Amino acid sequence: EKGGYDYFMLKEIAEQPKAVADTLLGRIDASGVLSLDEVRIPPEVLREVDKVVIVACGTAYHAGLIAKYAIEHWTRIPCETELASEFRYRDPIMDRRTLVIAVSQSGETMDTLMALRHAREQGAKVLAICNTNGSTIPRESDAVLYTHAGPEVAVASTKAFLTQLVACYLVALYLGQVRGTKWGDEIRAVVKELAAIGTQVEQVLSTMEPVRELARGLADQNTVLFLGRHVGYPVALEGALKLKELAYMHAEGFAAGELKHGPIALIEDGLPVVVVVPSPRGRSVLHDKIVSNIQEIRARGARTIVIAEEGDEAVVPYADHLVRIPRTPVLLQPLVSTVPLQVFACELATARGNEVDQPRNLAKSVTVE
Ligand code: F6R
Repeated sequence: EKGGYDYFMLKEIAEQPKAVADTLLGRIDASGVLSLDEVRIPPEVLREVDKVVIVACGTAYHAGLIAKYAIEHWTRIPCETELASEFRYRDPIMDRRTLVIAVSQSGETMDTLMALRHAREQGAKVLAICNTNGSTIPRESDAVLYTHAGPEVAVASTKAFLTQLVACYLVALYLGQVRGTKWGDEIRAVVKELAAIGTQVEQVLSTMEPVRELARGLADQNTVLFLGRHVGYPVALEGALKLKELAYMHAEGFAAGELKHGPIALIEDGLPVVVVVPSPRGRSVLHDKIVSNIQEIRARGARTIVIAEEGDEAVVPYADHLVRIPRTPVLLQPLVSTVPLQVFACELATARGNEVDQPRNLAKSVTVE
């Protein structure tokens, strides 16, 4: 059942190109137009939406954080992403023009379910992004966009996360398409590029041996930090979460711009710091800033593990370890930059003798608050 892999997690990481392709299947027509008729919220209702709120937990929450960048950029609708466990306790403001998106692999997470019930009581429309057919969250939502990752057995979420991202991008692009924004050309171009993502994930997977070797060499460390900016910031959070739950190491993700406001004090000689570098194309100002951040931490002794796009030469002098990822549109980069972090955490857990598929104290589906 593990298909020749030692762990379900390894199998599920390897299944990601297919999971991504399956989640796109049938949702983009031959002319590059999105057809999400299955989301049975009529276009006229979607045109009226004046706020999007994404609620989720854990890894699904990180997908939601990335979705916020995509939704606000492509649709110009204000969007907030909130931990489901915090959301309803602060008396959030919603009405019938609010679209709430509940993201959940299992469809049974109690915090997310309670958040969506609260949203519906306030009159908001709820769209579920879910991987489990017929589970409670989609049943109680107004509409559902299923991810097609297939069953995820390992407790740590991998392929479900990538497909949650795909679904979030589809919703963002669809909202943009339905409402018509100044980004029409960009949206059409990105829809086309989504089709190539499966192959790009495959490409990343085929180059992971140096990452595994690096991970094995870090098995005695206590702490690993992760830095990112823009959509790379939630990727840093996700990389840190994977390391906590699998390797039981102290791991934290930071927005690179926050370094000087405190976290830089943590940097000491030999501390491994993973940096997710935004594309030098597109919003290049972010790229230049993160290159300075890498220089700053390295000058203070950090051992830099840099994840950067192919052809990005500016990072080379400051990278103790360089992990290359394919070029993608700026907002889609998390689909490829997350993969090395999954492999890294899985290998570190193995090197530390941990149970990869069943980390201590964790359950796959959290059905209590
Ligand atoms: C981390 C992980 C958890 C889940 C979270 C939400 O690897 O798996 O953080 O992402 O418990 O679960 P779902 O998506 O089922 O609502």
